[in-house]
Amino acid sequence: MVVRSLPRARRDPRPALRDSIAAPVVKWVGGKTKLLPELLARMPERFARYYEPFCGGAAVFFRIAPERAVLADSNADLMALYTCLVRDVAGVIRRLEHHRAAHCEAHYYATRTRWNDRDSSWSPADRAATFIYLNKTCFNGLWRVNRAGAFNVPIGRYTDPPICVPEALRAASALLARATLRCTDYGTAVADARRGDFVYFDPPYDPVAPTANFTSYTTDSFTAGDQRALADTAHALAARGCQVMLSNSDTPFVRSLYKSFRIDRVRCVRAINSNGARRGEVDEVIVTAGY
Ligand SMILES: C[S@@+](CC[C@H](N)C(=O)[O-])C[C@H]1O[C@@H](n2cnc3c(N)ncnc32)[C@H](O)[C@@H]1O
Repeated sequence: MVVRSLPRARRDPRPALRDSIAAPVVKWVGGKTKLLPELLARMPERFARYYEPFCGGAAVFFRIAPERAVLADSNADLMALYTCLVRDVAGVIRRLEHHRAAHCEAHYYATRTRWNDRDSSWSPADRAATFIYLNKTCFNGLWRVNRAGAFNVPIGRYTDPPICVPEALRAASALLARATLRCTDYGTAVADARRGDFVYFDPPYDPVAPTANFTSYTTDSFTAGDQRALADTAHALAARGCQVMLSNSDTPFVRSLYKSFRIDRVRCVRAINSNGARRGEVDEVIVTAGY
C-alpha cells in the first residue's frame, strides 16, 4: 500500500498542509471553504487514497491536492464538467471567453433556456462552459433545479463576475486529471475503498429547521432514511480499516447516528435558508473514526 503524508502548508495552523494553487471552479451550496481550517485540523496525517463521494465544489480536494483521489457526486452535469476540464480545458476556456464578452441579462436568460433545452448538438465543452457561466452569474451562485431537472435560478447582480479565469481553470484541470471521477451514488463511489484510505463525506445536511432544507442540487432529495443508510456505510468503512470523516449539521438525529464516532461541534457562518438571504452562525459537527 502506498501511504503518503499530507503535504506542507504555509498558512494552515497545523503546519502539515501546503497551499494548493487550484481552487473550486464553481460556487456550491454547502461548499466547505469556510469550514476548511476545522476540517484540515481533523484529517488523518497519512492516507493512501482520498475519497470525496459528495464532492460538489470539492473545496477539500482542491485544498489538499491529493496524489490519488476518487471524486464523485450524483449530479451528472457537475461530474461532466470536471471530466471535460480534464479532457478539453482549452475548449472550455475558449467558450467561456465568448460568454464573458456576451454577458448581459438577455444573454444570461437565452443561455439558461438553451441549457435547459439540452440541445444535442452541444459538445461536452459547450455544456461545461455554460455550466460555469451560469454558476458564476446566477443569483447567489446557487445551482438549483426544479423537479423536471431544469435550472431555474435568476441572474445575479454582480458588476464584474469572474466568468473566465484561464489560469485557475488550467490548475483545476491538472489536479482533476490525477483523480478518478465518478458520477454515481456515494455508496458505489466508495465501494473499493480499502484499509488506509481516507473517506470524507459531506452529504446534504440534516435540516435544522424546515427552511434550511435545501436538497435540490439534483432532482433527488436526501431524506432521513438516506442519512441512516449513509451512517451504515460510514460504519462499515471504519470497520474495514478506512479512515472516515463526515460533516453535517449538529442535530440530535445526526449525533444519534454517529454516537460511536468521535463528534466535534464547530461553528460556521452559513446561509440558513434556501435562497441565502438570511445568514447566521450555525452549529455543525465533524465526526471522525478509524484514526
Ligand atoms: C453539501 S454538498 C457538498 C459540498 C462540497 N463539499 C463542496 O465543498 O462544495 C452535497 C453534494 O452531494 C451531492 N449528492 C446528493 N445526494 C447524493 C448521493 N446520494 N450520492 C452522491 N452525491 C450526492 C449533491 O449533488 C451535492 O453536490
